[in-house]
Amino acid sequence: MSESVDPSSKSIESGLQESRLFEPASASSLGMDHWHISSIEQYRELHERSIQDPAGFWGEVASNMHWFEPWTSVLEWTPPDARWFVGGKTNVCDNCVDRQVRDGHGDRVALIWEAEPVDKAGNVEIRKLTYLQLQEQTARFASVLRSLGVTRGDVVTIYMGMVPELAIAMLACARIGAPHSIIFGGFSSQAITDRVQDAKSKVIVTCDGAWRRGKIVPLKDNVDAACEKLATAGDAVEHVVVFKRCENDISWNQSIDRDWATLMAEASDDCPCEAMDSEDMLFLLYTSGSTGKPKGIVHTTGGYMVYTAYTSGLSFNLISDSDQVFWCTADIGWITGHSYIIYGILPLRVPTLMYEGAPNFPEADRFWDIVQRHRVTQFYTAPTAIRAFMKWGSEHPEKHDLSSLKVLGTVGEPINPEAWMWYHRVIGKERCPIVDTWWQTETGGHMITPLPGATPTTPGSCALPMIGIDAAVLDENGNELGANQGGLLAIRKPWPAMLRGIHGDRERFIDTYWSAFGAEDSSVSPFYLAGDSARRDDNGYFWIMGRIDDVINVSGHRLGTMEVESALVSHQAVVEAAVVGMPHEIKGTGIAAFVTLAPASTPSDPSALEELKVSLSSHVANEIGAIAKPDQIRFTDALPKTRSGKIMRRLLRAIASGEGQSNQDTTTLEDFSVLAKLQDDSE
Ligand code: WTA
Repeated sequence: MSESVDPSSKSIESGLQESRLFEPASASSLGMDHWHISSIEQYRELHERSIQDPAGFWGEVASNMHWFEPWTSVLEWTPPDARWFVGGKTNVCDNCVDRQVRDGHGDRVALIWEAEPVDKAGNVEIRKLTYLQLQEQTARFASVLRSLGVTRGDVVTIYMGMVPELAIAMLACARIGAPHSIIFGGFSSQAITDRVQDAKSKVIVTCDGAWRRGKIVPLKDNVDAACEKLATAGDAVEHVVVFKRCENDISWNQSIDRDWATLMAEASDDCPCEAMDSEDMLFLLYTSGSTGKPKGIVHTTGGYMVYTAYTSGLSFNLISDSDQVFWCTADIGWITGHSYIIYGILPLRVPTLMYEGAPNFPEADRFWDIVQRHRVTQFYTAPTAIRAFMKWGSEHPEKHDLSSLKVLGTVGEPINPEAWMWYHRVIGKERCPIVDTWWQTETGGHMITPLPGATPTTPGSCALPMIGIDAAVLDENGNELGANQGGLLAIRKPWPAMLRGIHGDRERFIDTYWSAFGAEDSSVSPFYLAGDSARRDDNGYFWIMGRIDDVINVSGHRLGTMEVESALVSHQAVVEAAVVGMPHEIKGTGIAAFVTLAPASTPSDPSALEELKVSLSSHVANEIGAIAKPDQIRFTDALPKTRSGKIMRRLLRAIASGEGQSNQDTTTLEDFSVLAKLQDDSE
């Protein structure tokens, strides 16, 4: 841990000032039949039971899913290794799709897709896939994968835009037991190269391009660049399946490129779901950590399937076969999209809406237009988006009929009370409960969240642990802290969707999440350490204070400061770089980079320095992706360091956020040499 938790930090104080409590609305006032959990007493009772008797509780929940063979024991737990529904055989695609068809729901809409482009008359393309159509398409693509030599256990890399074929591709992988590794379409070719290499993936599924704010993102070009590097490195990709979405010009390499449509036309739709072991890997998803390259988080089959469906139902009060339409605005390339666009939602038979593009295309009211058009009932988005909506103005949502909305959700970062109140008033019309869901790529599903019919909410707090979750705030020795004391957020009992490891790196898995509290040796802690700091208020409500490692949360997306630093240092002009988070009006946290240049590459005039900043920025975008572009670059002749050589990040953070003694002119070189001498080794 690079930084200790400071219990006197500002976030605690500001949290304490927030004491508004909003009682849940009645189900009938929202035109709903019932709340699954309708009072705080019912929540507490169920929570208590789930913690006292996890095996009994989760066994019951899991029996709602379809299993080819039952499990012999619900849980085997030897920290840090959990095995859930041991010996059980099931298939996630079967539960999402085939089972619904078998049970007579083949004609129900499973997935609604809306394209980004809007024609002159204001028409948009909408596709609706029933469970039957989804089954047919998924089975066909599963046959395609088989014909390309993919078998159980082979990792398939998916790098696509938000099109239904992305859902089809991932479900097809699940169908035949080939774990997928989905890479967010905003990442660069270097990010693809690293992930394909780490996962030893031989097949990539991509699109020619993706629509984003009226422009085409050249996905296939990025894959081509990655394939070239991979071939040079001796890790050649064997097949690249290309779904043509935008019809943009692409180059075609006969020896590896395959056309989606041609393969699908030839493929059989007879490809039954494989009976997978509950602990077989379902997918890998790369996420940022404090050091080095992104880590491949491993999720397995049974536990993840049970937990995402259970939490989807409870957090959003999803009711099967009703008039509900669920919309999660995340990209499927992030865990939120995996769990709450696809895997948790499809088994519940509530249509899941997938939107292709940007929230402000063609106009700033696009999301509200979509809500109105599809009569969306549950809406799940990120605080960064809410802050952008606030800035764009309330007139945009006010132009639309949002009366279909029943439950609102947020995820990805703490929501500031001001944004919460705006969401509550302008979008929820003071009727809809807001669920602020705290969770992580590693946790697979919601961990701490209000339940919409049961939990009174306070703006800025993610409230109480999910049923089955034993969350706590601990000190550095693993002791639970009292009310309003900041500490380490930990989960004290295993849960079904917990990560099973970091792909190929057992040591990092243990070091990152399971290092024993206060222990001298490297013994494994029985508690999962989330990497966030938090406190509980007098009501026991959780307030997330931020990361305790070198991970920053930019627009709700995790980035390791080290990743951005190594991208900067790989530029020929850069000798050293330090990256810290800084407050940002829309993104929540922005990226500030302090850069030391090689003397020979240091331009003397300010305009050349400005140009260099632009070039460094695009260099980072090439190395990682546009989301990692620094919001601020400052040049310095040396980085401030302690006598033992550690970069004084706290000082840099203060300067970046404007609190420090630094000047406003970011083009001049900062001189840290004096400062550094004045500081002791306290960091
Ligand atoms: C942060 C996203 C406060 C937190 C699902 C966590 C949150 C990291 C919230 C995980 C929330 C997520 N309130 N902070 N409701 N939700 N976070 O892996 O720092 O992309 O550790 O998963 O986001 O980000 P990840």
